[in-house]
Amino acid sequence: MQKSIIKDKLNRPLRDLRISVIDRCNFRCQYCMPADEFGPDFEFLPKSALLSYEEIERLAKIFVGLGVEKIRLTGGEPLLRKDMPVLVEKLSKIEGLSDIGLTTNGVLLPKLAAALKKAGLKRVNVSLDSLNDELFGKINGRGVGVQPVLDGIKAAQAAGLGVKVNMVVKKGLNDSEIIPMAEFCKKEGLQLRYIEFMDVGSTNGWKMDDVITKKQIYEMLKEKFELEPVDPDYFGEVAKRYRYKGTDTQVGFITSVSESFCSSCTRARLSANGQLFTCLFNGNGHDIRNFMRNDATDEELASRITGIWNGRSDRYSDERTAETITNRKKIEMSYIGG
Ligand code: GTP
Ligand code: 5AD
Ligand code: SF4
Ligand code: SF4
Repeated sequence: MQKSIIKDKLNRPLRDLRISVIDRCNFRCQYCMPADEFGPDFEFLPKSALLSYEEIERLAKIFVGLGVEKIRLTGGEPLLRKDMPVLVEKLSKIEGLSDIGLTTNGVLLPKLAAALKKAGLKRVNVSLDSLNDELFGKINGRGVGVQPVLDGIKAAQAAGLGVKVNMVVKKGLNDSEIIPMAEFCKKEGLQLRYIEFMDVGSTNGWKMDDVITKKQIYEMLKEKFELEPVDPDYFGEVAKRYRYKGTDTQVGFITSVSESFCSSCTRARLSANGQLFTCLFNGNGHDIRNFMRNDATDEELASRITGIWNGRSDRYSDERTAETITNRKKIEMSYIGG
């Protein structure tokens, strides 16, 4: 496929597409979908609002033609969407796509990992914020213990998928788990990434005081382990990585709050109902779904997406201030998939 390279106003190319396939989740993580906000009466998107697998495939092909090389499937919890391996198989056949990953809470991986791998999935990032059952159950808001997630990680490894572990760190909640998680993941040869708690959406009660920065975590790790920096794998990699000296095991940090990485942000996001977001912290997306459903041709869709990307100047994390944190309308994490 002939690829075009499109750039935004800050000269950033379009390289990655994160696709949320569903806005529902079987967890209610405090920092993402707090149970009191996402209660039994919460109205999730009806099925007809979600992009169908055929629509996702069509858009993915167009995005790949515009320079996208990596696709990440997200949710909510993406494995709650029926027949996910069918979607992965469709995407894996797209010429010019070098990587397909999926971000999940892991509990459905024992059922699905082998089929996902067979369909062409390369990697999963599994969220796990604590190794303590009681604390983890409190964080995930559903009382789910650690073992179902560990079983999911094991199943993914057994299926031959690359696995990374994501831990969101919130002060006073799970900072006690920073070292135990490092020790566990190092022992298991798993790459752990510590994620600074972010002010995504407007329901998670974010405060700057709740953030534990990369620097603070790094200082804690340095007391216990010898770490050496690892070069980024590619332009715009989200995590800053280190290796435990003398091993092949790495540990990473996602520093959206303390060291923003907007200048190399090459990511577009498609929400479950087909809105295109050019930043995780946007309030509104661009309605691609209805444009497509109104009989747009592939050329018209490519031209619309190009126009949106060309007009992009987002750099929310670079510009984060007390005013943007409280006053800006922001889309919820579960809707845009992180
Ligand atoms: P790979 O590097 O391909 O493994 O994926 P990833 O780390 O980008 O994806 P993942 O879904 O595991 O996200 C990890 C964390 O990084 C989540 O908290 C995301 O919200 C965050 N993240 C990913 N991309 C961005 C971004 O462009 N901006 C900000 N602020 N956070 C991001
Ligand atoms: N801040 C940082 N990371 C978050 N995630 C969800 N909500 C937040 C937040 N407020 C993480 C999840 C998952 C990834 C997609 O985003 O834990 O690993
Ligand atoms: Fe669900 Fe992931 Fe959000 Fe937790 S962080 S509520 S597992 S989508
Ligand atoms: Fe990209 Fe927005 Fe994240 Fe900056 S804040 S890295 S522009 S998604």
